[in-house]
Amino acid sequence: MPSALTIQTLFEMKQKNEKIAELTAYDHPFAKIADEAGIHIILVGDSLGNVVQGEATTLGVTMDEMVYHTRIVANAAEKALVVADMPFMSYQTSTENAIANAGRFLKETRAAAVKLEGGASVSHIIHALTEVGIPVQAHIGLLPQSVHQMGGYRVQRDEDRLLADAKEVETAGAFSVVLEGIPAAISAKITESLNIPTIGIGAGPDCDGQVLVMHDLLGIRTGRLPKFVKQYANLRESAISGIQTYIKEVQDGSFPSETHSYQ
Ligand code: KIV
Repeated sequence: MPSALTIQTLFEMKQKNEKIAELTAYDHPFAKIADEAGIHIILVGDSLGNVVQGEATTLGVTMDEMVYHTRIVANAAEKALVVADMPFMSYQTSTENAIANAGRFLKETRAAAVKLEGGASVSHIIHALTEVGIPVQAHIGLLPQSVHQMGGYRVQRDEDRLLADAKEVETAGAFSVVLEGIPAAISAKITESLNIPTIGIGAGPDCDGQVLVMHDLLGIRTGRLPKFVKQYANLRESAISGIQTYIKEVQDGSFPSETHSYQ
């Protein structure tokens, strides 16, 4: 069953100046929460590597892992458009591999689109995927899969290159483009110059939409968060406090009470 929100809806939203809210999810319960809250796009990000697997980078995430997580997320989404992130080396090696791997997401899960990282250098892959009917969300600027090539997670400031990458992915057929780690003024120029929606993460307020990692937004992740993250809830604190109360009640015998016991 296709989701209520399609890539055509996103074009219309850009035309109407209506902002698009995208959020990552990696499992069924959180995807259901995001969907019920009215999120437009759920991205099953390869940030799975950092957020769920506790790795330092996204490089080790596999296709099988992404297919599994995309399946359980997409089963929860009734309204949002579900986008599956193509992991490192699942599309860079050849267009044939890219089509086969992207095809898995649409055949084995209810995702309606894929995302992949890169600008001009991957435009031939974006073209090949869209030609066989697989919608692609592009991703330019700071590319986490190229962390070693970039020498770390650095803000990207080469305006000419970023504008050229954005144009290339649009021409290749991408239905939208994630702008990551780009100064606000450059993102504004890119957004102005494209017909497809731009979705920013650390790219300022003038993008057509924003994307965040669910665990950052909900305050589940620990450690130092990037400057662009805004924490809208503190689930970690309430989870710790709930579990501590449970431990205490088990130890002092107040749980289970009569209400939680069978007579
Ligand atoms: O993997 C991911 O979560 C992402 C976004 C945050 C854009 O690529």
